[in-house]
Amino acid sequence: MVTPKETLWELDPHTTAKHEILRRYLAAWFPILGTYHNRIVYIDGFSGPGRYKNGEPGSPMIALDVAVNHRKSTTGEIIFWFIEEREDRLAHLKQELAAVRVPAHFRVIAESGRFDEKFGNVLASIEADKNGLAPTFAFIDPFGFSGIPFSLIERLLAHKRCEAFITFMVDAINRFLEHPEDKVVQHIVDAFGGDEAVRIAKGSGDRIVKLRELYQSKLAGVAKYVRFFEMRDRQDRTQYYLFFATNHELGHLKMKEAMWKVDPNGDFHFSDATNPDQQVLFEADPTNELAAQVRAEFQGKGTITGRDLRTFIENQTAYLKKHMTAALKQEETSGHLKVDEVKTDGTRRRANTFPDEVKLTWG
Ligand SMILES: C[S@@+](CC[C@H](N)C(=O)[O-])C[C@H]1O[C@@H](n2cnc3c(N)ncnc32)[C@H](O)[C@@H]1O
Repeated sequence: MVTPKETLWELDPHTTAKHEILRRYLAAWFPILGTYHNRIVYIDGFSGPGRYKNGEPGSPMIALDVAVNHRKSTTGEIIFWFIEEREDRLAHLKQELAAVRVPAHFRVIAESGRFDEKFGNVLASIEADKNGLAPTFAFIDPFGFSGIPFSLIERLLAHKRCEAFITFMVDAINRFLEHPEDKVVQHIVDAFGGDEAVRIAKGSGDRIVKLRELYQSKLAGVAKYVRFFEMRDRQDRTQYYLFFATNHELGHLKMKEAMWKVDPNGDFHFSDATNPDQQVLFEADPTNELAAQVRAEFQGKGTITGRDLRTFIENQTAYLKKHMTAALKQEETSGHLKVDEVKTDGTRRRANTFPDEVKLTWG
């Protein structure tokens, strides 16, 4: 991808997919956190101009739109903090923001500057005062890989109920991994919080996959739940991964739901090379894969409850509860799984149902 120079640029199909995940996730996030906290913060650290060349909304307008639609279920203050390095894009964003009517409990701040500097300063003062950051969702959406130091993401995730949604430009990183200028390579080292990525350049194997795995493992070191979604260009080449990192169980679940909506096959990828007019003939059925996964996990491990299994599926796999029911029905029918007639609460189990109280044993 060539980095656009104009104030506004054209929207790629994969950006629409990214926005769709963001929109769906925020539709859950604003009401969940906005109901119980007297302040929540939405940061768009690389906000862009607020609109694309043909009038489509950019991420700041999408976030505001979702929040306005859910304004009745959010009672506390919602701070929107948009940071944009380029003055022309910031001026355009401000114009767009001026046209939006927001409720009194929203505070919208649009500032020029660099995300790492601005957010780094705020974090430093919060850390110095030993205060906690209000629940924060940070959308970190750069064109490249500079200005997203891992240390900053680690500091953000150290605060309760704070999470990051990051565009991780793996194709650009791969191309610049052996750049002769130290300054360029240093941005990559900073993004990973260490020089392991540079060593990947010297090794063998698929560098894109290795870089993704490395970033994933880094995030997993600072957040309990990490998910990613792959975006490919018109040549069907991986451009970037959208990474989501959170310590919040429900946030993780809601992000998985958003990703399943955008890719109903559960592969969690979107390609600009896919012809949108082509009929989708079938959607992959995840039942077999999930059935095999839970069997491998629980076979020979004694009896577990429906709750144990649901928690495993929701927290440790890419699947959702709706997939669990289909997989368990299949396991029971095929005789791999035995389900007790009586549940943990002493009541009888209804056939083909797998509530939290059901007792499950893989033979
Ligand atoms: C990929 S675009 C953002 C698109 C926007 N998030 C959206 O989805 O509509 C990246 C933006 O970040 C700006 N930018 C580049 N470096 C930056 C930095 N260090 N801090 C803040 N903004 C930066 C660019 O000018 C550009 O407008």
